Amino acid sequence: MSLPLVAPSILSANFAELGAAVSKVDQAGADWIHLDVMDGHFVPNLTFGPPVVKALRKYTAKPFDVHLMISEPSRYAPRFAEAGADLISFHLECGEAPADVARCVRALGKKVGFALKPATPVAEARPLLKDADFVLVMSVEPGFGGQAFMDGQRAKAEELRALRAELGLDYLIQMDGGIDARTAPLAAASGVDVLVAGTAVFGKPDWAAAIAELKGASRV
Ligand code: DX5
Ligand code: ZN
Repeated sequence: MSLPLVAPSILSANFAELGAAVSKVDQAGADWIHLDVMDGHFVPNLTFGPPVVKALRKYTAKPFDVHLMISEPSRYAPRFAEAGADLISFHLECGEAPADVARCVRALGKKVGFALKPATPVAEARPLLKDADFVLVMSVEPGFGGQAFMDGQRAKAEELRALRAELGLDYLIQMDGGIDARTAPLAAASGVDVLVAGTAVFGKPDWAAAIAELKGASRV
């Protein structure tokens, strides 16, 4: 599969027609489906929980990339796993010991991602990298779609790329927030392997063209 992968975030889709949106964005070329879970506590917004993930599961065979912006991720990870998550990311800032949460996710047989808010340095993730399937660099403050890309976050992708080579690891680097046709090539040039995009896919009339543009522009 050619990099970068594109993971459309259904946060920007029409919530009254999520099943149709998931199947249509699959047809449009999405590599992963990014599902933003917010609890109104870790972030000041609420979205959906395991029942919605489960209901959407039958609309695509593509990997479900569940981004947990919640407190106590280890308490809820089993329910998301059961609902059909393939990859589960959680935040280093969640309040639980990240190594314990990662063990929990891995024990469920799912891929583990460590997510970093903009203020969290890569140094905090470094001891965990050997256990990472992917690392999610937030390029906006988590909580809402449609925010402006924080260009300074690209340095973290570059650092993660350098560390991956230095440590001989193989995690993927994911970036989430404000990714569009202008910022995708910048992110990719900084080493991002997986582009999450909400507004830049679901806000466009032609989702296939939008996804192709993100993937293609990124090879520049
Ligand atoms: C923000 C979410 C993102 C969001 C991205 O907290 O994690 O996945 O949907 O939306 P855009 O692409 O519109 O910035
Ligand atoms: Zn997200």
